[in-house]
This record gives sequence, structure tokens and C-alpha cells, in this order.
Amino acid sequence: MGKSLPTSNTEIDQATGVIPPPPSVVSTQEGLHPVIELCGVEKHYQMGDTLVKALHGIDLAIYPGDYISILGPSGCGKSTMLNILGCLDQPTIGTYLLDGIDVSHLSDDELSRVRGKKLGFIFQSYNLIQQLTVVENIEVPLYYQGVSEKESREIAIELANRVGLGKRLDHRPTELSGGQQQRVAIARSLSNDPAVILADEATGNLDSKSGRDILEIFDGLNAEGKTLILITHDESMAQRTNRTIRLKDGSVALDTGRKESSAS
Ligand SMILES: Nc1ncnc2c1ncn2[C@@H]1O[C@H](COP(=O)(O)OP(=O)(O)O)[C@@H](O)[C@H]1O
Ligand SMILES: [Mg+2]
Repeated sequence: MGKSLPTSNTEIDQATGVIPPPPSVVSTQEGLHPVIELCGVEKHYQMGDTLVKALHGIDLAIYPGDYISILGPSGCGKSTMLNILGCLDQPTIGTYLLDGIDVSHLSDDELSRVRGKKLGFIFQSYNLIQQLTVVENIEVPLYYQGVSEKESREIAIELANRVGLGKRLDHRPTELSGGQQQRVAIARSLSNDPAVILADEATGNLDSKSGRDILEIFDGLNAEGKTLILITHDESMAQRTNRTIRLKDGSVALDTGRKESSAS
């Protein structure tokens, strides 16, 4: 017997108590619940007399294991999208469910708690704390989660090893190359075991060799099942990831959906 679609938005699964998503965003990937769902999302900015609609009518479902590049020309809304997906800002209109939680109307404190638990961030400029060592930087998200010092240290050392910095644990950011600093940032983004990793122009400041190393780490993380969203203007990323979303004037102009492992 095939599963039938829910008949209304509020029909609750008796066995699990889970409220299914509305039919418009029902999984194209049978059996998977989206980790991110945007429904009718708009973001408006008031600039003097002008209302800038930076995002309008965004409906999007992102599934566990998606490896997404979000592409588009300058001004199309990529940063606005990242801020909303990253719970750094909220939609003006519409809803955002992150791992089943409606985060569209949370207070700043609640939002930052959700960020700390569910999301990992990687920025173009690494955003490491200069006074802290490699291992201490990786521990920062764990500190906010109240993880014990001993456990944090174990997790951080393991992650440092994983990104090839096991011999640099006590170095400070100024003693590292750009590529190494970005690897610290990746390890930091993994330490709270986030549901989604968001990267904003992660290779933008790197030479091409270091950039390739970072992308290989992303490939490896996705191969392990991590969900990654890469905001980029690098067109070659569309080949690398398994789903491409193109924004144009604040709307989704193209969404390839998940391409199953492209010819390798
Ligand atoms: N804080 C803001 N106030 C007013 N307008 C903004 C603000 N942030 C972005 N915008 C406008 O929203 C649109 C999308 O911007 P943005 O998301 O930064 O695009 P991208 O990152 O793709 O270059 C642009 O027209 C930009 O000028
Ligand atoms: Mg931008």
C-alpha cells in the first residue's frame, strides 16, 4: 500500500504525533522529512520611501543529505537568504521551519539558541577568535552548549585531526595560513553536530589550491550524510554539489532538485 498524501495541513500522524507538511511541499524524496522548509518567505527592507523586496515568494524544502549551491548575481538576495536560513534574521512574511521548529517568530534569545544547536557556519573571512588557539576556537560552540571541558577537548581534538590540524592544536589564527584557518572554521562548524552547515563564499579569500582542499572537505562531509548549503558566486560549484538553486531578483529562478550522484 502506498502512502497517501495528507488531506489537510493539520492532520496529525497518530503513531508519531508529527504534523505532516502541507501537500505543496511534500517530499520529492519519498520518506524524508525536510530539514528546512521555507513557505511563502519574503524579506522587505524599507529604504527611505522605497520598499526593497530582497526576497519574495520563496518556497523551498531542503532534505537531509542535500549538498546545495545557491548561486546568483550580486544583489539577487543570496546574503538575505543566508541570514534567514541561518536564523540571523527573520522573514518579513512567511514561515521557516528548521528541523520541524517554526523559527519565524522566535525572540532573539530563542533564535540564538536554535542557531547554536542546529546550525554550523563557515564565513569567507573565517571569523575565528584571534586570542584563542585552534583547539579553543573549535570548542566555542560546545562551550555555549554547556558541554564539559573534558568532553569538549576530546571532540575538538578529534575534529582538528579530521581537518588535518592535529599538529597545530595550540597555534593561534595569526600563525596559520588562510586555508588552515578555514579548516579550523569547518571543524568549529561541526563541533555541535549541526543539522545543517551554511557556508558563505567559503573559498572566496583562498588561493585555488587551498580552495580545492576546502571543497574536498565539503565533499567528504556530504558523503557522510551532512547537509551543506554553500552560498557562492562560483559557477563551477554547480557541477560539484548535488543540487543547485539559482536566485534572481529575490526569487528562485531555478532549482535542480537532488541530482543523484552525477557521473564521477
Ligand atoms: N539591510 C538592508 N537594507 C536595505 N536593503 C538591503 C539590505 N540588505 C540587502 N538589501 C537589498 O536587498 C537586495 C538583495 O541583497 P543581498 O541579499 O545582499 O544580495 P546578494 O547577497 O545576492 O548580493 C539588494 O537589492 C540589496 O540592496
Ligand atoms: Mg551578498
